[in-house]
Amino acid sequence: MATDKQTPPQQQESGSESISSVLSEKRKFPPPTEFSNAAHISSMEDYEKLYAEAAKDPEAYWAGIAEQFHWEKPWEKVLDWQPPYAKWFPGATTNICYNAVDRHVNSWRKNKAAVIWEGEEGDQRVLTYAELHRQVSKFANVLKIAGVKPGDRVAIYMGMVPELVIAVLACARVGAVHNVIFAGFAAHAITERVNDSKAKLIICADGTRRRGSTINLKNIVDEAIVNTPSVRSVIVLKVTGEEVNMHDGMDHWWHDLMGLAMDHNEPEFVDAEHPLFILYTSGSTGKPKGILHTTGGYMVHAANSFKYVFDIKDEDIYWCTADVGWITGHSYLVYGPLLNGATLMMYEGAPNYPQWDRFWDIINRHKITILYTAPTAIRAFIRAGDEWVTKHDLSSLRLLGTVGEPINPKAWMWYHTVVGQEKCPIVDTWWQTETGGILVSPLPGATPTKPGTATRPLPGIMVDVVRKDGEPCKSNEGGYLVIKKPWPSMLRTIYGDNKRYEETYWSEFKDMYFTGDGARKDEDGYIWIMGRVDDVVNVSGHRLGTSEVESALVAHEAVAEAAVVSRPDDLKGNALIAFVTLKDEYQGDMKLREDLRNHVSREIGPIAKPDEIRWAQGLPKTRSGKIMRRLLRELASSKEIKGDVTTLEDSGVLEQLREQEEED
Ligand code: WT7
Repeated sequence: MATDKQTPPQQQESGSESISSVLSEKRKFPPPTEFSNAAHISSMEDYEKLYAEAAKDPEAYWAGIAEQFHWEKPWEKVLDWQPPYAKWFPGATTNICYNAVDRHVNSWRKNKAAVIWEGEEGDQRVLTYAELHRQVSKFANVLKIAGVKPGDRVAIYMGMVPELVIAVLACARVGAVHNVIFAGFAAHAITERVNDSKAKLIICADGTRRRGSTINLKNIVDEAIVNTPSVRSVIVLKVTGEEVNMHDGMDHWWHDLMGLAMDHNEPEFVDAEHPLFILYTSGSTGKPKGILHTTGGYMVHAANSFKYVFDIKDEDIYWCTADVGWITGHSYLVYGPLLNGATLMMYEGAPNYPQWDRFWDIINRHKITILYTAPTAIRAFIRAGDEWVTKHDLSSLRLLGTVGEPINPKAWMWYHTVVGQEKCPIVDTWWQTETGGILVSPLPGATPTKPGTATRPLPGIMVDVVRKDGEPCKSNEGGYLVIKKPWPSMLRTIYGDNKRYEETYWSEFKDMYFTGDGARKDEDGYIWIMGRVDDVVNVSGHRLGTSEVESALVAHEAVAEAAVVSRPDDLKGNALIAFVTLKDEYQGDMKLREDLRNHVSREIGPIAKPDEIRWAQGLPKTRSGKIMRRLLRELASSKEIKGDVTTLEDSGVLEQLREQEEED
């Protein structure tokens, strides 16, 4: 690749070094003065100063933050870095559950609400820090009775009930490694994960509620563990009262064991590098990757990033709508908020149950001050109509956040005006399961935001956009997003597979972590994520990030959602195919195809004009809301769908798309 170095990006052939960026967004929103005045970090000058300080001596910066936590034994060194393997705070011992719970029980916060829970049917529970402490300690004793030792893996498969948080914290308390498996996954996914991690124990619920009906989780576990030799016992929490089979010697009721356990439990102080959890993420192909996070560094960054990105105050009622089965739930529903002694909202059900205003109703009734959700949810709310939002008083909100995929500028503007009433800053937070915590995000009291960008890296985080040869891109030149220095909450490896860890993240660029995302840095140094590089399309020698073409489509008034993929084309190398979901009132408008093609051409140039537009009732998505472009790519080239479709949320969508193809 070195010979290509001098080639200007515009003239490059396919497979070249950079990615063309076509989206231009000029709107800029400074933080409201009132918000800045009360914020932890209240100006860009303060941010720049902190960033420069941290960049000069990252280890001193992280040590300064780490000092705010309880360590049973101090570290000998801040970082031991033998690329690509990092040890943070080696020599130190701590317990993350102690830091997230006991510390607050020993303070004025003991009677503060830690978790405010609402079930789908409207039932409510509040756990103070003292009550959370009591239950977690008791359940930690249960784990000990069940023979769980430090380092043992424990799988957790339950819906969004407070006991899920209790189970996670109790594992950490005894030094066990939790592996939360999203309750929407099928038996096969459990078997695969449990066998890969060799979990000894599964904690599950009898069932979970979803859109007014129930799903029997225990039956799914029964099916999954036919082929999991490592599992010795299953602890079952009664939630829905489903009929379940309890197997003698193997299955135990949560409430029976809790009845036997004492209240008091001494936390197990473990090495800073002791594994805390494994969380599986689906690779685009092949078996899921068990992302391994460890204790000390993860704690430091999850807590610190939460504090500054969400500008958390003791008066806040913070709501992260993600499921604990995803990394967002780990870092910003459980650990980040509790490590800060915050009050968190936890909701069990669907966003549209019983109606499309459930979120806004919850915000109004619980006086939520900070809302953290995903672009896919925002687009669904736009489609449902503003009146569901506007009929509720949302004046308690002071800050909004998004995560998971690039937020289209149009969705950003809607979030800003309709939900945020133009007074709430939006933090568009970029990170990954692998990064453990947010790495790129506005600081809401400091950073002027622009719709569609996660803006600047947090202090201590060295990200850059580079060409294929590793050289930094010029301003606004699209390239590959990399991280140049280790950070405390980075994944330590892929569980049991160091080789895959090295190959996936550390082989593309020398001594730099490759995120897999395409991005560009604009004139203000703001990072614009252009999507996964696997999704980059190459048209006539120009590499385009699909998310930009999608944003242009979504900007059209008729469009609810869009996904763009490419199909090999003799002439252009690749042709662009757009799958478009129309808003209800525009369905059946025959003229729209041409309108949309011209619209994209106008917005970003003829190069990005889709060759074909296909109507879609819905788009295939993973259960965490990401569009599965791989499937659309296969559909677009009329290929058989191959590979793993177990993470697909609704398989009916694929059928509809196939039928659509025949009609067109
Ligand atoms: C990938 C990571 C991190 C928690 C949820 C997803 C995409 C994530 C953003 C954002 C643009 C984003 C990236 C990233 N992504 N946040 N704010 N803007 N893209 O975790 O499942 O590990 O996915 O999600 O492509 O690499 P994940």
